[in-house]
Amino acid sequence: MNQNDKKRAAAEAAIRYVDGGIIGVGTGSTVNFFIDLLAKRSRDIEAAVSSSEATTRLLRAAGIDVIDLNQAGTLSVYVDGADEADKHRHLIKGGGGALTREKIVAAASRKFVCIVDDSKLVPVLGHFPLPVEVIPMGRSYVSRTMIALGGQPVYREGFVTDNGNQIVDVHNLAITDPVALEQHIGGIAGVVTVGLFAARPADTLLVATDNGIETIE
Ligand code: A5P
Repeated sequence: MNQNDKKRAAAEAAIRYVDGGIIGVGTGSTVNFFIDLLAKRSRDIEAAVSSSEATTRLLRAAGIDVIDLNQAGTLSVYVDGADEADKHRHLIKGGGGALTREKIVAAASRKFVCIVDDSKLVPVLGHFPLPVEVIPMGRSYVSRTMIALGGQPVYREGFVTDNGNQIVDVHNLAITDPVALEQHIGGIAGVVTVGLFAARPADTLLVATDNGIETIE
């Protein structure tokens, strides 16, 4: 099975967690397969809350009503991909730059179902560079604090988030305590959001493998 087949298989497995109401929809190539499947079931849900402008466009093109989170209350389920995941359902997200809205939608959802292919499952997070969304004027300061933490920050040049901010990708961090690191980086002045999803991990991690779907919960 190639990687796209696995992404599609993970997306198919997530469809069974959709049970009416208003759902949250994440961002990325794996979730795009989920949106394709959701298009055929658009009457089964009330509406969707989107985690990015890109996903909003795809949802609308699929005939799905997209509403503001402020009008939605608590979401029944949030389906999203990840850049890396561990067995504790801690994640690195933000490869596509949508981490801030993704973290808000995850926080506002009763259940977070994360869909990945098995190349994303790692013993220790941190091989994938950790995205940190920063207020532009704080970028160099935040980067220096990342160096002090032992990481190598790289400015994602030419990229502006949906919130008008910038991203620093931090390489070579050994993330042995994701909850503590999320809290620490999240508290640095100038940081909008760190792409660690550990304090609020996924509730269910669906990993597509050659032998089928592995469900970690
Ligand atoms: C978007 O900002 C990310 O958090 C995505 O969830 C992540 O990059 C997964 O994307 P793919 O499904 O394209 O790998």
